[in-house]
Amino acid sequence: MSRVLEPKDSEQVARRLLDSSARNSYDPLVDIDWTAEPVPGKAYMPQERVSLYGTELWRRLSAEQRVELSKHEMASIASVGLWFEIILMQLLVRHAYDLDPRGAHAQYALTEVGDETRHVIMFAKAVERFGVPRYGPPRIVHELARGYKALASGPSMFAAVLVAEETTDRLQRSMMDDPDIQPLIRMVNRIHVVEEARHVRFAREEVLRSVPKLSRARLEAHRYLTALVSYAVVDSLIDPKVYRSVGIDPREGRAAALANPEFHQTRRWMAEKVVEFLTDAGMIGGPSKAILRRAHII
Ligand SMILES: [Fe+2]
Ligand SMILES: [Fe+2]
Repeated sequence: MSRVLEPKDSEQVARRLLDSSARNSYDPLVDIDWTAEPVPGKAYMPQERVSLYGTELWRRLSAEQRVELSKHEMASIASVGLWFEIILMQLLVRHAYDLDPRGAHAQYALTEVGDETRHVIMFAKAVERFGVPRYGPPRIVHELARGYKALASGPSMFAAVLVAEETTDRLQRSMMDDPDIQPLIRMVNRIHVVEEARHVRFAREEVLRSVPKLSRARLEAHRYLTALVSYAVVDSLIDPKVYRSVGIDPREGRAAALANPEFHQTRRWMAEKVVEFLTDAGMIGGPSKAILRRAHII
């Protein structure tokens, strides 16, 4: 059901976020024990969130192989996540370029760039620690994003940022207190969840502030762009190369995941909160919803 959402004063919000950043921020280089050994038998993400969970291929995997695949899928999600965070850093720097640097709003945008710099290194170190191949989005997505990060602006920019941040956030929240998950992953997730909460607040306010200023035609254009970028990001999270880690051909694994109703459900679950917000804010609606449906985001 649609609620009426009102943006708050942007300086006031930014001041509060700066305050919270000063009180509660982490330095993953010192706050995480990078030398700790992984705990044998513990998974790297909840098994029911692994893309093949519930399929015939999954049934054929041993318990060890299931843990191994969870490690590679988590590494892929972290790798695609950090790729998007590098994009986000550029978007935020471009956003700050036009702002009055004396204001809290500009200063918070730059604080967030600092957060994301630390997150990228944190995820990169975690992936390095796992000893997995380099995972990432498909080449075409990587190349198209070059133009996107140089040009994107307005409500669809912040809406797409929210989809990337909130979908992964939901997954991370669900396992940060789960004793069956590797301690390193839980710590990384805990740090990320704390700092992402501020980023989500900041981006949501930007969406609420900018959507009402759009004409009907521009609103539809921003909805399309939001849907397309969301599709590209969500569909890239699992690099098909991960299936090689358990002897499954990447094409076969990807086809099985895309046909897997459990995996569709996982995607909708990850997107549930952000979809609710973007629908209320007006950024999800109209014919572009078909794209989100195809991606199993709605
Ligand atoms: Fe982040
Ligand atoms: Fe973030």
